[in-house]
Amino acid sequence: MKLYIDSANLKQIAYIQEYYPIAGVTTNPSILVKENRPYLELLKDIREVIGDDKELFVQVVGEKAEEMVEEARNICNQLSGAVVVKVPVTEEGIKAIKRLTAENIPTLGTTIYTPLQALIAAMAGAKYVAPYVNRIDNLTGSGVKVVSEIATLLSSYQLPTQIIAASFKNVQQVHDVCLSGAQSVTVGTDLIKKFIAFPATTQDVEAFKKEWQSMYGVGALV
Ligand code: E4P
Repeated sequence: MKLYIDSANLKQIAYIQEYYPIAGVTTNPSILVKENRPYLELLKDIREVIGDDKELFVQVVGEKAEEMVEEARNICNQLSGAVVVKVPVTEEGIKAIKRLTAENIPTLGTTIYTPLQALIAAMAGAKYVAPYVNRIDNLTGSGVKVVSEIATLLSSYQLPTQIIAASFKNVQQVHDVCLSGAQSVTVGTDLIKKFIAFPATTQDVEAFKKEWQSMYGVGALV
């Protein structure tokens, strides 16, 4: 299992990177625009915070495959380290994924709502596919079921493409997806913090501390 940060907020990325086992950072146009500053400068700052080894995902916005390929080359030239280009799974996007795969530029097929979209992106050579769990749920589908069926298809056809499940709004969705065959998840920083926040754990830790200090004094460590 790999955990990615779905954010472009430098402060939050630095915090999560310090405390959690992180494989990289995923962005999309909305996430970058939210930070309200030149996107390339921001992406370079993110790279500086996470280091060259961790994957940084950047999405193209062109409509035509040729534009997407040009954007992808540009992103890879401008940024150091492990970069993955996110390409929406439209017809033009599939064409772009094929071309980028031929150029050895790693891609992630994004905005995925159905197992077949993921299968075609994988067959075109995408290194990753990103089903949008919460957005599928909002359409009264089942994001978890879509992830599970994608996992079955990729495994049946022995495709090396990995699932990075995306678009989460609660911990239960992440939990269910982890049990459904996704190799990775990308999650917003506030939700990542909720993975381990549990009232009983806090109470237990507090009780252990009180007992220890009553015997060995305030501030005593083992
Ligand atoms: C991944 O990078 C996706 O773009 C992202 O998870 C979408 O999340 P949202 O549905 O919360 O916008």
